[in-house]
Amino acid sequence: MLKIGVLISGNGSNLQALIDEVKAGRLPAEIALVLSDNPEAYGLKRAAAAAIPARFLPPGPKRTVLSPEAEAAYADAFKQAGVELVCLAGFMRVIKAGLLAAFPGRILNIHPSLLPSFPGLAAWKQALDYGVRYTGCTVHLVEAGVDTGPIILQAVVPVEANDTPETLLNRIHREEHRIYPEAVRLFAESRVRLDGRRAVVTD
Ligand code: GRF
Repeated sequence: MLKIGVLISGNGSNLQALIDEVKAGRLPAEIALVLSDNPEAYGLKRAAAAAIPARFLPPGPKRTVLSPEAEAAYADAFKQAGVELVCLAGFMRVIKAGLLAAFPGRILNIHPSLLPSFPGLAAWKQALDYGVRYTGCTVHLVEAGVDTGPIILQAVVPVEANDTPETLLNRIHREEHRIYPEAVRLFAESRVRLDGRRAVVTD
């Protein structure tokens, strides 16, 4: 059974989607540990309610990255828990060498746009302001850039004429909660391989 570790900073609705799929027996994985850089993250409560080990780990002094010491502590905690795949689920810091080296090709992120369009913060609002007719969400492997890396799965979400940032984000979230567990399932079934920078999914 694939052991996964989840990194959160806030609400944790994607964490919840993973928890629910595991519980329903549709995702052959075990959520071994949830770590948060925010002691108030609601996702910590979701994990506790599901009896999943979860804790706040101090991130260090900077807002956008973990300090090298913190990153080593996160990597150690995941290794000790036997984690094989790390899932970023609303983790609001850029991953650096410490975690990338500890889990090469084994860190996933979910982003609320069709990458490579609209990387960075509030991607759904960027899409609405730009005026695109379609946006969506992307699960990708994490590399050293911001919201870059081989794409595993994407889902398309139409932008409606009367959308507000909130209505659009709600629709994107529904698709996120579907494709993130699906992407983890592909890893659990060893169905992802890399061909250059393309991730190829096998049957
Ligand atoms: C999601 O929209 C995800 O795409 C982005 O952060 C948000 C996290 O939401 N990376 P939640 O904490 O899973 O509810």
